[in-house]
Amino acid sequence: MKINFNINGIVKELDVPPQKPMCDVLREDFGLTGTKIGCREGECGACTIIMDGKTVNSCLVPAVSADGREILTIEGIQKFPETEIINDNFKKVGAVQCGYCIPGMVMSSYALLKENKNPTEDEIRQGLSGNLCRCTGYKRIVMAVEGSARDLNNIEGEN
Ligand code: FES
Ligand code: FES
Repeated sequence: MKINFNINGIVKELDVPPQKPMCDVLREDFGLTGTKIGCREGECGACTIIMDGKTVNSCLVPAVSADGREILTIEGIQKFPETEIINDNFKKVGAVQCGYCIPGMVMSSYALLKENKNPTEDEIRQGLSGNLCRCTGYKRIVMAVEGSARDLNNIEGEN
């Protein structure tokens, strides 16, 4: 089936089999391998993307259902200044170990901070609750998001 969607600001057309999930289309058809695949069951969040402004598990989204939608992947958000700040904070507090969960974590953090500029610890944990990390124990990830919120608010205050 032929579909059109906007991926990271560029309109793409593709012929896709009806059941092919979005995560496979991104990785195999567009080489966007920053979107990781863990469980393929909507449980781990490694495949998190933003579709029409909301985070979704791309393993659960048949690509055909993305027809006409706007998709942002971890590659696409790198051009936003917010992402640089989030990336820096993840590095600064040592929130990255094997790194496998991190693209999904950064996607969810970006989406959370877009909606809520001053999230509490509970709100951060809630916002990242669909993203699993086997390595870090979450404390440093929460610290990274808190630091990102602080830095983003400071920058906004200066402007
Ligand atoms: S691979 Fe999609 S949620 Fe785990
Ligand atoms: S850093 Fe290894 S799974 Fe999160």
